[in-house]
Amino acid sequence: MTAVYYFSGSGHSRAVAEYLARELDTDLIEITNSTPIPSCDTAVIVFPVYCQNIPAPIIPFLKSLNTKSAALIATYGGISHGNVLFEAAKMIEPAVTASEYIKTGHTYLGESAEFDPSDLTEVIKKIKLGQPNEAARSRKNPLADFFPAWRSRIGVKIRRLDTCTSCGKCTERCPMNAINNGIPNNNCIRCLRCVSECPNGALEFSLSPIMKFYLKR
Ligand SMILES: Cc1cc2nc3c(=O)[nH]c(=O)nc-3n(C[C@H](O)[C@H](O)[C@H](O)COP(=O)(O)O)c2cc1C
Ligand code: SF4
Ligand code: SF4
Repeated sequence: MTAVYYFSGSGHSRAVAEYLARELDTDLIEITNSTPIPSCDTAVIVFPVYCQNIPAPIIPFLKSLNTKSAALIATYGGISHGNVLFEAAKMIEPAVTASEYIKTGHTYLGESAEFDPSDLTEVIKKIKLGQPNEAARSRKNPLADFFPAWRSRIGVKIRRLDTCTSCGKCTERCPMNAINNGIPNNNCIRCLRCVSECPNGALEFSLSPIMKFYLKR
């Protein structure tokens, strides 16, 4: 039995995971702090690249995986995916049957979750085949491990607007326990889930000049 697990900030990885779950005709499960350890044979795990790294909230999930095999899919915004899949493959116990980077829009540029489904054709074949495959090693910027969450925090500001009703949804959905009714704290990794899921559009983000410059390049 196969199941598709995903972690997503602004919904891009969720869109890829939904597609895979449909194509593979499997369950789709979000990775949260309370997601039970998978009991299926194959876990397909979809997550985004954050600052050329694996998002911190899914590291405990990856380390606890004890399925027979796993497939790793990382979405990224077209800048650089670093060496994320190789690092994730090293982190997990199960044999990796497929691994692929999928380019989608960049969250910080307000781009959509659109991706090319044909990028997943080979992955789906490999998942169905179930043979172990080595995750490709790729180049990573030497500065990528230099306080990634801190770099996002100084590059992206989140502002609460007057339309906030203190409904608590952002507090409940934040993967880092980093926001209280629209006010983020220093644990925030700027995944922007709160911004995209606020039912009242009461959170907006802005980029610092240095982040704008970096993204433009
Ligand atoms: C905190 C953060 C860091 C990111 N770092 C990178 C990066 O290093 N390289 C890249 O190409 N895209 C980067 N992106 C863009 C995301 O990888 C891309 O938009 C992804 O599809 C978002 O998926 P999600 O909506 O499931 O979180 C970053 C986005 C965020 C929010
Ligand atoms: S989800 Fe939106 S409206 Fe609700 S508390 Fe958070 S910022 Fe306010
Ligand atoms: S507070 Fe920060 S970490 Fe939490 S959902 Fe919002 S952007 Fe993500």
